[in-house]
Amino acid sequence: MLILAIETSCDETAAAVVCDGCETLSSVVSSQIAIHAEYGGVVPEIASRKHLEMITPVVSQALHEAGLAMNAIQGVAVTRGPGLTGALLVGLSAAKAMAFAQGIPFVGVHHIEGHIFATFLEQPVAFPFLALVVSGGHTHLYLAEGFGRYTTLGRTIDDAAGEAFDKSAKIMGLEYPGGARIDALARGGDCRAVRLPRPMLNDGSLNFSFSGLKTAMLSWIAKHPVTIPGQEASDLCASFQEAVCDVLAFKTKAALRQSGVRRLVVAGGVACNSALRARMTLMAADAGVELHCPTPALCGDNAAMLAVAGNYYLCNGLASPLSLDVTASWEMDRIKEQFT
Ligand code: KG4
Ligand code: ZN
Repeated sequence: MLILAIETSCDETAAAVVCDGCETLSSVVSSQIAIHAEYGGVVPEIASRKHLEMITPVVSQALHEAGLAMNAIQGVAVTRGPGLTGALLVGLSAAKAMAFAQGIPFVGVHHIEGHIFATFLEQPVAFPFLALVVSGGHTHLYLAEGFGRYTTLGRTIDDAAGEAFDKSAKIMGLEYPGGARIDALARGGDCRAVRLPRPMLNDGSLNFSFSGLKTAMLSWIAKHPVTIPGQEASDLCASFQEAVCDVLAFKTKAALRQSGVRRLVVAGGVACNSALRARMTLMAADAGVELHCPTPALCGDNAAMLAVAGNYYLCNGLASPLSLDVTASWEMDRIKEQFT
């Protein structure tokens, strides 16, 4: 099945053409980061307007790069949520219009479900597996037993890991989004130089908390201003990353132990982080677990990732009704309700 996938949940307008949920024929991502950087974060109204401007050219580009005309497409997969309401509406409306005009089915896909299955575009993973999703809005541990069958084992009770990266970067005076900037500065830094907390490490749950870490960064910077670039800045970034990695690796290892699952998927924008990738590789090897972490280009927001679950649903006759609405917050265990 040839699927056109569309993603507009936040600040990337993306479209892709994917064959049978595994072969990416094209993947176009138009980023708005430079526009939002000026404001230190995503401005929802600006994001919606930019999506509106870019959606048609981005879809045309994806079809062009795949060497296909719209009438070759057999189904449309689109992010239905979670995300910014106005931004999601642009993608969903475009998907519905294209599906209706072509007389083909469309399906609303959960953004996080998309992230989890991005790795399938490189290599399929057998169920069941554990998924650690670390993005700008999510830090969740899921047990995935099949498409649409997810159990939340743990989640952040406050900030997401990506949010902690971005807020800490802002505290340091780094440009939005700061995750990649912290990653780059941390190279050459000493991860034991600054003592930072490991929130909720030994609370016995599989939940996370990152707001205390951000506050600790704020207090450190207030007492020890850093110049960028510089050794102190690198040490602080490396120490921050180490604290995040310690917590993520510890809780993921506990979830693997408790669930008895032998396969681990690490997904979402923060999975681009070099220290986290290295740590998860070590942890998985130590625990005797198979690790699947997509290449960085597939970790961040893109549309191709939506076509994996989208292909499964559409091939199994699970299409969304044209009355489907966006949902800014959507629990993973309620994904299948739209089909009933
Ligand atoms: O998955 P994503 O592209 O969008 C959301 O669904 O949120 O994730 C974006 C997040 C941002 O917080 C960004 O700073 C973070 O991923 N990120 C990184 C790195 N690259 C992106 N965080 C740490 N290290 C990186 N190299
Ligand atoms: Zn995302």
